[in-house]
Amino acid sequence: MQTFAKGNTEWWKKATVYQIYPRSFMDSNGDGIGDIQGIISKLDYLKELGVEVIWLSPVYDSPNDDNGYDIRDYEKIMAEFGTMEDFDLMLAEMHNRGLKLVMDLVVNHTSDEHEWFVQSKSSKDNPYRDFYYWRKGKDGKEPNNWGSVFSGSAWEYDETTDEYYLHLFTKKQPDLNWENPKLREEVYKMMRFWLDKGIDGFRMDVVNFISKVPGLPDGELQPGQLYADGGKYFLNGPRIHEFMQEMNREVLSKYDIMTVGEMPGTTPEDAVLYTNPERNEVNMIFTFEHMDLDSAPGGKWNLKPLDLVDLKDNLNKWQTGLHGKGWNSLYWNNHDQPRIVSRFGNDQEYREKSAKMLGTCLHMMQGTPYVYQGEEIGMTNVRFENLSDYEDVETMNMYKERSMLGYAHEDIMESIYVKGRDNARTPMLWDDSENGGFTTGTPWLRVNPRYLEINVKQALADKNSIFYYYQKLIGFRKELDIITEGNFKLLHRDHSAIFAYNRTWNNEKLIVLCNFSDQVQTIEDEALLHEIQHADVLIANDEVYEKTLTLRPYDAVVYYKK
Ligand code: NOJ
Repeated sequence: MQTFAKGNTEWWKKATVYQIYPRSFMDSNGDGIGDIQGIISKLDYLKELGVEVIWLSPVYDSPNDDNGYDIRDYEKIMAEFGTMEDFDLMLAEMHNRGLKLVMDLVVNHTSDEHEWFVQSKSSKDNPYRDFYYWRKGKDGKEPNNWGSVFSGSAWEYDETTDEYYLHLFTKKQPDLNWENPKLREEVYKMMRFWLDKGIDGFRMDVVNFISKVPGLPDGELQPGQLYADGGKYFLNGPRIHEFMQEMNREVLSKYDIMTVGEMPGTTPEDAVLYTNPERNEVNMIFTFEHMDLDSAPGGKWNLKPLDLVDLKDNLNKWQTGLHGKGWNSLYWNNHDQPRIVSRFGNDQEYREKSAKMLGTCLHMMQGTPYVYQGEEIGMTNVRFENLSDYEDVETMNMYKERSMLGYAHEDIMESIYVKGRDNARTPMLWDDSENGGFTTGTPWLRVNPRYLEINVKQALADKNSIFYYYQKLIGFRKELDIITEGNFKLLHRDHSAIFAYNRTWNNEKLIVLCNFSDQVQTIEDEALLHEIQHADVLIANDEVYEKTLTLRPYDAVVYYKK
């Protein structure tokens, strides 16, 4: 039995996080919507996978314009999901099993049905008026030209006071005004409410949007666009680090928790500012750069095939840029992204093999890995013929806007098939019964028709399944500190199909070889060949008959050497 070198580090650096999208995870009462009792019934399954932390997407009271990312009451549980008693029980059941719970913190915006907004909207001199961004129109139009992330203008006119309010997401998600110290204090109070219940951290929704440049200047309008990208004026804005440090001082620093900020438009240099422990902001962030590599200019719906060299360059930049200075999150999937096996892998002939390859490539890097529900069984994207089978507000708004701009229906549907968020949100597939065992009722979103072939029951019965492979990857992170601590070095950067890198630490070395293609691929490198021939195979997604630099389609091999 090998013994591996050991370091000493924070618990969240060695943990793997599992994300639950509650609406689609498990329905316990037959209403077609996942719920908290459903989650409780599956905790043993998660324990078996080996994850230590669960990130739960919002379970708060919400009118569900954006499936819970539009919160009406931060301290109440969504009725469809259960009650506060159910929540307390879930937390206790998690803790009984040694699982930690990270809650979603959505404080860039609320629902327009939140009491603060109802008050704010009622009159210009209401004490809550300044909790949100209200502005007069300009020349009979919106106060500035910013577009919403979900299409259309970022402003909505409200006749009660003849002013517009800002909403970077849907018009039912008005942006909170963090310039107002009273608002900040209310947010901190709410955070303490959850932390005092004993939760173990927060995932902070688009938290780098909370500081806007005063004056809210117009963005640059691109040809063919109706509204401008205002990102320059609200991403990582002028007071962002002050706000993050204040939140840390007032709340986070008082608890032993883990925090992760969702931060689109952030570079490794920004990430160092957010995550360097000496700066007291958050533990890690979610970056988006590697998720944008298969988009052409103009945004995610403009499709472009991935160039593997771009992906290597990008992950290399993050691995080396944060090493020793901050901390990374590692992810391929979440509730906003298409399924990775359909995206960077192969969801047909090589589904299982490429899913394992992708897991290998990510889980051997430095950072805290996130597994999104269904990723561990290789769930795939869907292609529903009818637009009416889709639910996501982003998809629906984009469809309307693009139809108006004259795009062909088939082209818009293709973008939805490749990038739509509902790909990730189809119900979790538990077994081969109707609706994949997710519900006995009618599911809120259509089930992936491949449930007969892809489901948890099948995965648990097959010792070679993706599930057990992920279980091993998760286990190695606990055992081998080199995965947490080691230096990262990209190898053979220019190879168009093989992603190769090594990790080194304390006389130990890992060499990771991943073939991202459905063809046999070779690396020509005598020294590397010699190295692997004198190393042990730590894990591989297929039989290794021979230690070689010729990889079969979607092969992944990790070598370990002391
Ligand atoms: C990011 C969340 O992940 C996404 O699902 C949501 O629509 C937006 N933020 C707005 O809250």
